[in-house]
Amino acid sequence: ARASAGTAPAPALWSSRLAFILAAAGSAVGLGNIWKFPYITGENGGGAFVLVYLVCIAVIGIPIMMAEVMLGRRGRHSPINSMREVARQEGVSSNWKVIGWLATLAAFLILSFYSVIAGWTIPYIFHAVQGDLAGVDADQAGQMFGNLLASPVELTLWHTLFMALAVLVSVGGVRHGLERAVTWLMPALLVLLIMLVGYGMTTTHFGAAVDFLFKPDFSSLTAEAVLVALGHAFFTLSLASGSMMAYGAYLPKGVSIARTSLTVAVMDTGVALMAGLAIFPIVFANGLEPGAGPGLIFNTLPVAFGQMPGGSFFATLFFVLLLFAAWTSSLSMLESVVKWLEEHGIKRAKSAVFGGIAAWMVGLTTVLSLNVWSGFTPLDAFERFEGKTLFDLYDFLTANVMMPIVALLTAVFVGWVMKKASSQEELGAGTGHRLWLFVLRYLTPVGVLVLFLYNL
Ligand code: PFF
Ligand code: NA
Repeated sequence: ARASAGTAPAPALWSSRLAFILAAAGSAVGLGNIWKFPYITGENGGGAFVLVYLVCIAVIGIPIMMAEVMLGRRGRHSPINSMREVARQEGVSSNWKVIGWLATLAAFLILSFYSVIAGWTIPYIFHAVQGDLAGVDADQAGQMFGNLLASPVELTLWHTLFMALAVLVSVGGVRHGLERAVTWLMPALLVLLIMLVGYGMTTTHFGAAVDFLFKPDFSSLTAEAVLVALGHAFFTLSLASGSMMAYGAYLPKGVSIARTSLTVAVMDTGVALMAGLAIFPIVFANGLEPGAGPGLIFNTLPVAFGQMPGGSFFATLFFVLLLFAAWTSSLSMLESVVKWLEEHGIKRAKSAVFGGIAAWMVGLTTVLSLNVWSGFTPLDAFERFEGKTLFDLYDFLTANVMMPIVALLTAVFVGWVMKKASSQEELGAGTGHRLWLFVLRYLTPVGVLVLFLYNL
């Protein structure tokens, strides 16, 4: 249906609070939890980083999530047009839609490389099915992963397949099938992670892993690590990238935004911590490097699966679930773009294909940065960006620059520009609302600004 900002018919809503929680959790839980969280924790020294990350989730992430879901529900459009709509309702400049623009751009950029990483899970499903992982040691696992990264053709193939899968479902509209998929996906993923943690307990290095994750050593904490922790809090909760706004647009009135946001954040954090507890025992037991970077889980998990009874079966299941988790996340990234195109009269199918192809093309530069262009580090002149490939730069630009800026602007808009009565209408008045407003007015803007200045 053709719909432009302000005149759209009431959209079909989620069938229940649970349906929204499932979709939002499907967006939140993904590669960020299982792939990114362990490797950045390893790179940033463990405990102190984890603690800062948890504080960022609780103090900044959850209030921002509430703000975004609220903006989506009041705007009832794509993030760009929801911002325009809310600004109109509030009687303020429509320039605030820049929040929607930046968020959508971030989602688009993330999708471009997210698809490449998600693609990695596909060959691992095949490896697991064929029994290739049985008995592999750390060296062999490293070799297997190295071979994958070395082949631009193979990486492009999986990247293409993954993006096609995302587009396919996006064409039908995210609400079809998503609820059902996530209902079994989450519990299954959790069971597998519990099993992997159980395996970790059988290694002699479980204690070392627990210490690494939960014993903070603040002497090793850098300002950059704090910025990375903050950026990851946004990334992992799908904030500052339009997704929560886009999904909030389908949230029925009367559903508690605070409770649903809290539930999603707790689930997401639980999965990340479990992933950490699953991976670090293997890292230490095999003398691997915690700071090995983006390949960390692909260098470690095959070793665990290779040694446990029924490992091929569980490995297959695990990589399938990881693929699904990545897929539900990528759907939410596409949603902001697709919905916006739809609002300009372009049919859903066309919008999804167009958005997918555009992100796919940008993704090719990530593919190349892993091999042919691995020496292409264009910002070497700046110390901070020395040695960073295009992929590293996309990751840094989105999580550590764009997302904090979007979150800052969102906090300022909701905290200072929007009428207090408007947010009270959505969240209810009371101590909770006052606390939330305080955080958005002072803590988030000051926190983000201080971190930025410190990192300059
Ligand atoms: N939250 C997702 C993850 O942790 O894998 C990543 C993500 C999804 C980021 C959607 C941004 C987004 F809009
Ligand atoms: Na996440």
